[in-house]
Amino acid sequence: MSKTTDLIFNEEIINERLRVYKPNNSLHIDSFADDVKTGLTSQNKFLLPKYFYDEKGSEYFERICETEEYYPTRTEISILKNLSDTISERNPGTNLIIELGSGSSFKTNYLLRSFLKSRRSLTYVPIDVSNILIESSRILTENYSGLSVKGVISFYEDGMDFIVSKDKATKLVLFLGSSIGNFSEEERIEFMKMLKKYMNNSDRLLIGFDLIKSKKILEDAYNDRKGFTAKFNLNIIQRINNELDGKFDLTKFRHSSVFNEEKNRIEMYLTAIEKMDVEIKGIGTSISFDKGEKIHTENSYKFNYKIINKLAEDSGMEFSDYYTDENEYFSICAFKLKAGE
Ligand code: AVI
Repeated sequence: MSKTTDLIFNEEIINERLRVYKPNNSLHIDSFADDVKTGLTSQNKFLLPKYFYDEKGSEYFERICETEEYYPTRTEISILKNLSDTISERNPGTNLIIELGSGSSFKTNYLLRSFLKSRRSLTYVPIDVSNILIESSRILTENYSGLSVKGVISFYEDGMDFIVSKDKATKLVLFLGSSIGNFSEEERIEFMKMLKKYMNNSDRLLIGFDLIKSKKILEDAYNDRKGFTAKFNLNIIQRINNELDGKFDLTKFRHSSVFNEEKNRIEMYLTAIEKMDVEIKGIGTSISFDKGEKIHTENSYKFNYKIINKLAEDSGMEFSDYYTDENEYFSICAFKLKAGE
């Protein structure tokens, strides 16, 4: 999502250490109908994974994170639990933490606590399209007396543009949760280049990457026994029923996830178990499915340090250090501007 030009942000003062900023135009709404039509009428049918996250989908995602098989969330939390003090020590001049896609800011708690051990004050800027950040930020200001929070409810680039023009402190930018894995290779380079524009020499960018591991562990993580990933996946066609007056019968589609070893990515699909036509009034057409035909709903890329290094190079940044768990399942990697830039 690229920057919207000349946005004006309205400020809402929630308490003396919490301010929330929202652009005065309403957030540009993606065209769900257009994207569904493009995806389902193409030769190889697909749907964009950003549409998983309606209220129900976000709930299913939380359930996935609690399953035994889905290790990324708890592993990333364990890294932050164990290494937040080290991250704080390695970034002594940092007084500003910006988090993209902060959600409930649950994981960030560990970092904030560590940073506040050795600083009298710290500013935390969660940037998210969801209002959820208001309540979680309120709790953070109640828990940490040295913390000021400036919540920004907007898309990432608009939010970065706004906050960096206001606050010149040395910063740590966070993009956790291995969300970068849901970007294509081009999208992740563009994303890092966008962030680079807002960074100075002493700033650092921390990104959570899910690492390549055995096919079995990876595939189990996306095929949990309790079936939450299947529900999460099927919910995207339920959303089409709800919002676009679609007539999908969810019992006629089967969830699957496979690790593509050539492309280093989990591919998630919904497969039609029989031949059928599905009317979707909101896009003005019916979609025909052959028996066994698939809708590709998500890619979740997995990484190693060679790929991460290449990503840094392609985006004109330098991969500086990393924080990992004992099994090397997950890695939080730090990037900085290249020396001399
Ligand atoms: C949000 N994202 C990092 C998750 C992932 O692992 O790619 C989404 C997800 N899809 C199925 N399970 C979890």
